[in-house]
Amino acid sequence: MPLTQCDTVHTLMPDSPSSFTIVDVPGAVPLMGHISTFRQRPLESLSEWWRHHGDVLRFRLGPKTFYLLSHPDLAEEILVKQSERFVKVYNPEKPHGLALVLGNGLVTSSGEVWKRHRRIIQPIFHRSRMAAMADRMAQVGEQRLAAWKGREGDTIDIAAEMMQLALEVISQTMFTTSMTQYTDRVSHALQVSIKYAFDSFSNPLSPPLWVPTARNREFRSVMRFMDGLMYGLLAERRQSGTHHDDLLDLLLQARDEETGEGLSDQELRDEALTIFAAGHETTANALAWTWYLLATHPGAEARFHEEVDRVLQGRTPNAEDLDRLPYTRAIFEESLRLYPPAPAVHRKATTTTTVGGLSLPEGAFVLVGTYNLHRHPDFWTNPDQFFPERWLDGGRPRSRYAYMPFGAGPRTCVGLHFASVEGPLLLALIGRRYDLQLAQEKVEPYLMVTLRPKGGLKMRLQPRRVPVGAVH
Ligand code: HEM
Repeated sequence: MPLTQCDTVHTLMPDSPSSFTIVDVPGAVPLMGHISTFRQRPLESLSEWWRHHGDVLRFRLGPKTFYLLSHPDLAEEILVKQSERFVKVYNPEKPHGLALVLGNGLVTSSGEVWKRHRRIIQPIFHRSRMAAMADRMAQVGEQRLAAWKGREGDTIDIAAEMMQLALEVISQTMFTTSMTQYTDRVSHALQVSIKYAFDSFSNPLSPPLWVPTARNREFRSVMRFMDGLMYGLLAERRQSGTHHDDLLDLLLQARDEETGEGLSDQELRDEALTIFAAGHETTANALAWTWYLLATHPGAEARFHEEVDRVLQGRTPNAEDLDRLPYTRAIFEESLRLYPPAPAVHRKATTTTTVGGLSLPEGAFVLVGTYNLHRHPDFWTNPDQFFPERWLDGGRPRSRYAYMPFGAGPRTCVGLHFASVEGPLLLALIGRRYDLQLAQEKVEPYLMVTLRPKGGLKMRLQPRRVPVGAVH
């Protein structure tokens, strides 16, 4: 077995980007294009189309033409080299997709608003803050484990559990508040709103928000709840006059360099909700997939348990421990490769542009297929195999853009360091106590903005009997 399985097979790469050609995905229906297939099986469509037809594909969702690009050179062109020309697709005047939920927050905004807000928010995620954040994450994790005590031996939905855990982590670290009393309602509200947002993206022919359908009414109702929660958080902090050196303080204290003005209430709401949603959905799904992969790969699981027992000796992990948990980190990286929580990155061409020798028209919608890049046989050995060892000893894919779970270029995930601490830390914290055993036969990935196990993930919560001598 080679030390790393990430080596690029150079001879299989196109000599120059100009060797790409656009292939039209067959099966388009007049007017609708590929809506029906895509809506029924979005992830399978993206990956099967790519496997059958290649790295540059064109398909249609109603009136919108999309280009699915699944080659690292093209990902670099779109997200890094030509990022000024390929922008986020949202228009604050006519919100659709995720912007219906997140407004004009960091994920969905563009231009000067985005630049300014990124400058405000970025410092909270600075590496120097991660040790303190890790302690808070571990505290939240321990509280959750205490609640699991009475459920040992039970079968639980680990995907829902990870959602609650990650939600509480983000609430405590960013907003210094607890959401435990609202967990169910928040989970429901996010499920409904994110599904609504995804449908509005994948079916441009769905009725606009002002039409009083049952779905539209339900969406408005859950958004009222989320708005209430966000505005409540802001009002409470303002009234209390206390400072916590958290994201909420940063947002409330931010002043425009030229005008001296603070963020408006709407801007504050959009940013708070953005961090709240983007900061827990993704990590929670990544953790759920990791537990699934461990449960189905006993060799990797045994090595994980051995490392956690040896390094932690039964203690709660902290940020410093992560350097001594390389296998745990490798597991998380490998899980993000096979099941990237954001399986595609979406952009729109502002002008007719040449990319890899191909001409993309102004207004073209581009999907960079992260899921496909992560399984591309030209860049990975045994791409579909779960093999954490490929990440050890500095193993990396030869092409930088064959692995980009956190995106690339100026819009790279602002929470990258946070998630890279949170993921392995919570894995170690839970793994030292529990063996999570798969308790359902079929596990299917389901794409709904993020990639989640369809219908949840049932696992048995088995307390571990740590071998004598492993913990002193
Ligand atoms: C495993 C966990 C995570 C994954 C896989 C992930 C993935 C991503 C990806 C792929 C993007 C880029 C999207 C694009 O270019 O269109 C992104 C952006 C973003 N993420 Fe994450 N994320 C994770 C965790 C987090 C966390 C913990 C936070 C906050 C605490 C966060 C907040 C954001 C924000 C605000 C953006 C927008 C950044 C910008 O456009 O300036 N994410 N994330």
